[in-house]
Amino acid sequence: MNKIDYLRLSLIDKCNFNCQYCMPEGKDINYLLTQDLLTDEEILILIREIFIPLGFSKFRLTGGEPLLRPGVVNLVKEIASLSETQDLAMTTNGFLLAKMAQDLYDAGLRRINISLDSLNPKTFNRIIGNRGFDRWNQTWKGIQTAYQVGFDPLKLNVVIIPGINDNEVLDLAALTIERNWHIRFIEFMPIGNTQLFNQEAWIASEELRKQIRSYWGLVESQVRGNGPADVFQIPGAKGTIGFISQMSECFCSRCNRMRLSADGWLRPCLLNETGQINLKTSLRQGMDLSKIRLKVKEILAIKPEINFEQRDSGTETGVYTRTMSQIGG
Ligand code: GTP
Ligand code: 5AD
Ligand code: SF4
Repeated sequence: MNKIDYLRLSLIDKCNFNCQYCMPEGKDINYLLTQDLLTDEEILILIREIFIPLGFSKFRLTGGEPLLRPGVVNLVKEIASLSETQDLAMTTNGFLLAKMAQDLYDAGLRRINISLDSLNPKTFNRIIGNRGFDRWNQTWKGIQTAYQVGFDPLKLNVVIIPGINDNEVLDLAALTIERNWHIRFIEFMPIGNTQLFNQEAWIASEELRKQIRSYWGLVESQVRGNGPADVFQIPGAKGTIGFISQMSECFCSRCNRMRLSADGWLRPCLLNETGQINLKTSLRQGMDLSKIRLKVKEILAIKPEINFEQRDSGTETGVYTRTMSQIGG
C-alpha cells in the first residue's frame, strides 16, 4: 500500500487571476472571510501535532494564489524549519514571484510549480479571465526570477484547452531543450467553469506525446517525481516533459496525498469528497488533539477505497461542489 505522507495545504481561496477552468463562474464570487481561514497558528498546530505524528513529511502550499496570503513568507519559514519537513513546495501562478522569489527561497522553499498555459500574451490573458495584457510579462519575469534564484526543480504547469492553446504544444515543450525546466501538461478536468469548457473539452496526453514525439522524438526520463506525472524527455534536452493524465488514466492506486482547504476541510481525494472532515471546526471547538489525530487516522484508513473512479457518486451531491481554486488543485 502507498505511504500517504504528502499534504497539500490551500492557504487562501482568492486569486489575482481568474482562470476560466479553475475559478467559480459568475461575477459575485463568495470568497472566504478572513475569520474562516485557518490561521498560521492553526496550520502549524495541525502540521506539528496531527500530520507529522501520522507520518507526513511533504507539504505543498497552494491556493487560489498562495502568495496573496498575508505573512506567507513567515509561514514558509516556520514549516521549513521543522526537522520532520523533508519536502516543502508551492504551486503558484507566478505573478508575484519577481518580487517574492528571493524571500521565499531564503525562508527555505526549494520547489516551485508555476502555471503557464500560453507563451502568447493575448491567449494568456484570455485564459486568465482578461485581467490585462501585461500579466504575461509579469508572470514570465516571475518564472525567470525563480529560475535565477535557484528553485530546483522548477516546474511549469500547462492545461491544454482545445481551440485556445492547443497550437502551442511544441512551443511549450521546446522550453525544456535549453533550460532545466520541467513542463507538465495536465489534462483539463471538468470541474470549475463547466459552461466554458464542457466535458468533451480535453485532449488526452497521448495525443500531445504523439505531436512531440513525431517532431523531436521522446524518451522516458530517468527522473521521476513523487507526483502523478509520467515523465519524458526530448533527446538531449536539459529539462523534462511530464504528463498528468487524470482523465485518460487512473493513477489513484499510487496516490500519496491528502488535501486541506483554506477553511479547514481535509479531503482524501481531489475529485471525491467522501469522508471529508473539517479540522478548523474541531480545533475551534476545543477538541482534544489526540481525538483529532484519531479522526484523521480514520480517513487515512479509508483513503485507498476512495478514488477518481467513483467520482460521480463520491461527491455528496453527485456534482462538484468546489472548484479547483477552492480545493487547491
Ligand atoms: P509534485 O509532483 O510534488 O511537484 O506535485 P504535483 O504535480 O502534484 O503538484 P501541482 O500542484 O503542480 O499539481 C498539478 C496538478 O496535477 C494539480 O493541480 C492537479 O490538476 C493534478 N494533480 C495533482 N495531484 C493529483 C491527484 O492526486 N489527483 C488528481 N486527479 N490530480 C492531481
Ligand atoms: N483541470 C486541470 N488542471 C487544472 N488546474 C486548475 N484547474 C484545472 C482543471 N479544471 C491546474 C492549474 C494549476 C494547478 C494548481 O491546477 O493549471 O497549475
Ligand atoms: Fe488562480 Fe491558479 Fe486558478 Fe488560475 S489556476 S485562477 S492562477 S488558482
